[in-house]
This record gives sequence, structure tokens and C-alpha cells, in this order.
Amino acid sequence: MASKLSPAIVFDPASGLRSRDVSLRSAGPGEVEIDVRAAGVCHSDLHIVTGDWPSDRPLVLGHEAAGVVTDVGAGVTSVKPGDHVVLSWFAPCRRCRKCVAGMAWLCTGTKAVANTLPDGTTPFTDAQGEAVWPYLGLGAFTSRLVVPEAAAVKVPDELPFGIGALLGCSVTTGIGAVVNTARVRPGESAVVVGTGGVGLCVVMGLRLVGADPVIAVDLSPERLAVAERFGATHTLDGAETDVAAWCREELGGVDYAFEAIGSPSVVETLPAMLTSGGAAVLVGMAATDATGSFNLFDLADQGKRILGCNYGSSVGEVDIPKLARLYLAGRLPLDDLIGTVRPLREAAAAFDDLRSNTGVRTILEP
Ligand SMILES: NC(=O)c1ccc[n+]([C@@H]2O[C@H](COP(=O)([O-])OP(=O)(O)OC[C@H]3O[C@@H](n4cnc5c(N)ncnc54)[C@H](O)[C@@H]3O)[C@@H](O)[C@H]2O)c1
Ligand SMILES: [Zn+2]
Ligand SMILES: [Zn+2]
Repeated sequence: MASKLSPAIVFDPASGLRSRDVSLRSAGPGEVEIDVRAAGVCHSDLHIVTGDWPSDRPLVLGHEAAGVVTDVGAGVTSVKPGDHVVLSWFAPCRRCRKCVAGMAWLCTGTKAVANTLPDGTTPFTDAQGEAVWPYLGLGAFTSRLVVPEAAAVKVPDELPFGIGALLGCSVTTGIGAVVNTARVRPGESAVVVGTGGVGLCVVMGLRLVGADPVIAVDLSPERLAVAERFGATHTLDGAETDVAAWCREELGGVDYAFEAIGSPSVVETLPAMLTSGGAAVLVGMAATDATGSFNLFDLADQGKRILGCNYGSSVGEVDIPKLARLYLAGRLPLDDLIGTVRPLREAAAAFDDLRSNTGVRTILEP
């Protein structure tokens, strides 16, 4: 049964970004209906709007969100109406070899990246009855959603919804990049290039594990000031500094170099920042056809590594509740990651905030 129409922020390849009224069908078997309470605006939404990641169909954007379960379909056991949940944008199939081996972030069976529910359908239709598709299987820039059970991770009721939203993407990705992908140990050194929502969480993760020194690099003095509050020991202006030369001269190279922009030209500079045996961690996501080149002799001779990083190598059901507990215990300064809170209808302005690197993370509330 389809519900009444509600506004959603849709990117249509034919007409661009606009608000469009959509209706939602009810939850089918294995699906969960959710009342969205907060959604963060991540650069991965902007990649769709800019065409870095082309879409052939209209998408309800938004993939970093939290809300309350309002209904569950047949067979759902892990959540019930009234539960507070964080949405995980890489809903694992729980059956493929990677899932069974505990590597849900590498799931080969998920339909999230095809922007559909697991059965290949969408829960959204517009006023003319045309299908509108859920970005990353969620489509959180609206007020109500239907998602697969594996995308709805139960969290404590006392977790604020804005913080829960951030746990859905930037926090789990950024902290996961440090603790899961790179497995940084106390006293190891790291540089983080790009300190937007995701890069600031990398900095936060580095403080959590006791990395030192931690060098934050960005073009925005405002973001670098936040990085310092989150644990950066040094900050560098990326436009004015040759970061690789700085790392070699001041530190003899760093153990880890995280990129959280998605810029091929920046990624190419990472290996030269590293000491022998160090690792470059590609957290930022470039355009789908982007390539880069590296000095291959240096990589082989110096035993340097390049690590990919999808969703911070995280298992949503394990890592999201863990991060929620750390926040509630006062160990993660996530309140300072929330910049502006805007009503959903101001989504276009929220994208402008992101483009101009003003503030930190913007939260949209339906
Ligand atoms: N790996 C994953 O699973 C995953 C998850 C979420 C987001 N991402 C990706 O991470 C990237 C960052 O996302 P975000 O939401 O933090 O974006 P953002 O726009 O908030 O932050 C990007 C930051 O990079 C800075 N920057 C741009 N060019 C720079 C340069 N040349 N030198 C130094 N700093 C520079 C900007 O000033 C900005 O602060 C995006 O590509 C996004 O798609 C990846
Ligand atoms: Zn994201
Ligand atoms: Zn799987």
C-alpha cells in the first residue's frame, strides 16, 4: 500500500537537483520502515550531483541518516517498531563469501551500489507513478523510508539523531579507516589530507588510538582549526605547502597517509609522504573513471602499500553500536562535527555549504 506524498530531495539526470513529492510503499519481507529524523550531507551525495558518479535514473539522495522504526515486514527479527536505528549504506547480503568471512564491507551480493533494494525494486514512486530510486539503497533525504533489515542498525535511544546520522557514514568510514583498514598503533605517525566531514573523523580516530604526530592538511583554515581541536598536532595549508617534502624533511616520512578528498592529483602525492613500509589509505572516492600514476620503483623498493577503504572496512552491525557507545562515554567529540542544522527544504543550500567548504557537517531534518 502506498502512503501519502512527502517531499524528497531528488537528483534527476534529466532535470538536476530538486524537491519532488514521493510516496512510499509499505515494508515487504525482510524490510523495515523508518521515520527519518536526521540526515547528514556527505560528499558522496555531491558526487552524484556533479556527475562524478553518473546515474541513469532519478535518485532520492541521502545515505547518512538515523531514525525510528515504524513497521517491519515478515521475517524481520533484529529490530521492532520504536527502535532507534542508524542506517548503514552498504547493506550486506549476509550470504556471499565476503560476508560469511566477516568482511561485510566487501560484500559482492549487496544491491546498495545499484541504488535498489535487495530484490531490485524501489519503495518510492512520484505523483505520476514513475519510479524514483533510493541512493545506495536508502534515499534518506525524505521523511520516511523502507530499507533492508541489514541496513537498519539498532542503537541506544539516548543517542541524539544528528550524531546517529553521522555514524551512518562519515564517522564509521573515517574512524574505521584508522582502526580497521590501516590498524594504526599508538605512537605511529599519520597525515590526513582533506579534513571535511570524513577527514575530521580520520583525525578523531587517530587521536582515539594514540597516533602521534598527526598532521592535518586542508585548504580551509576553519576546517584546520576544527582538526586541531580533534587531535591534529600540526596543520598545513595544502595550497601553500609541498606536503610530501614537509613530511620527509620534518619526520623522515610518515607511517600512514590518508586521503579524504577523492582527488587523483592528491592521491598521487601520498607515497612520497611515507616512510619505508608506510601505507597510503584511499578514503576519498574519486570519479568512477579516475586513474593515477605512482613511482613503481619507490613502492616496490621501499615496501610502501596502497590500501583501498570502503566504509572504513566496517561491519555496520558491529562497528556502528561500538562507535555509539564510545560517543555516549564521552570518548568522541562528535557534537563538534555538526555544523549547520537545516530543514530538508534547504537541501540545495546544504550542498552549497559542502561545495564552498563552509562549516563542518550539515544535518538536514525532515
Ligand atoms: N571510503 C568511503 O567509504 C567513503 C565514505 C564516505 C565518503 N567518502 C568520500 O570521501 C571524500 C570526502 O568526503 P567528505 O564528505 O568529507 O567531503 P568534504 O567536501 O566535506 O571534504 C573534503 C575536504 O577536502 C578539502 N580539500 C579539497 N581539495 C583539497 C586539496 N587539494 N588539498 C587539501 N584539502 C583539500 C576541502 O577543503 C574539504 O574540507 C569524498 O570523495 C567522499 O565521496 C568515502
Ligand atoms: Zn557518505
Ligand atoms: Zn555479502
